[in-house]
Amino acid sequence: MDTNHETQAQPMPRIGDKAPEFKAVTTQGEINFPGDYSGSWVILFSHPADFTPVCTSEFMTFAAQESKFAEANCKLVGLSVDGLYSHIAWLRTIKEKIEYRGMKDIEVKFPLIEDITMSVARKYGMIQPGESSTKAVRAVFFVDPKGTIRAIIYYPLSLGRNFEELYRALIAMQAADAFAIATPADWQPGDDVIVPPAGSCGVAKDRMEGKEEMKCYDWFFCTKKLSAEKVLSTVLKK
Ligand code: BEZ
Repeated sequence: MDTNHETQAQPMPRIGDKAPEFKAVTTQGEINFPGDYSGSWVILFSHPADFTPVCTSEFMTFAAQESKFAEANCKLVGLSVDGLYSHIAWLRTIKEKIEYRGMKDIEVKFPLIEDITMSVARKYGMIQPGESSTKAVRAVFFVDPKGTIRAIIYYPLSLGRNFEELYRALIAMQAADAFAIATPADWQPGDDVIVPPAGSCGVAKDRMEGKEEMKCYDWFFCTKKLSAEKVLSTVLKK
């Protein structure tokens, strides 16, 4: 058990905070975070360790989908508390040797941060001693183009992430910004969206019924149509 972690505790960044700044060495050279990513969304995510199976499946999946995230103006940055040479050897092994679920010859082109001192991992609350005091949990930070943290998801060591969900969350947040709407449970582009703010539906309904095909389930719960084409053409062109 880690008896030291109380003294090393730092406040964890929260949704709405500016992303804590750091400089780091990565597999793609040095980065300044989040300054280098100004104007883009960026997903900063941690994994427990190089040369482990769940992490390998995740890196292959994320790398295979990197261009899809890039089209949505989102860059990827990985982190573990391993050193640079371990990262390089692991990514080379993935490219040269691993064939998994139809993915092969996968080159991880996004930066992978070396964080042997755990300074970045601690800053972002990625070391959660109840789970492990020597490895980062699977944290995912969505940072918007202004450097603000917009969503945070944590997974335990044993649970590989769902990258479709990360993409869905990214598109949903971008749609919320672009159209001043909210998105309901399990929303996908093309599904009806929620017209905020709650409580204004009566007014909005009177004014807009027939124009925007609003549907109110009660005074606090109204939706309207928003086509997938409109969402994707807005989000993917930025
Ligand atoms: C894995 O990626 O397979 C893994 C890493 C650390 C603990 C458990 C599983």
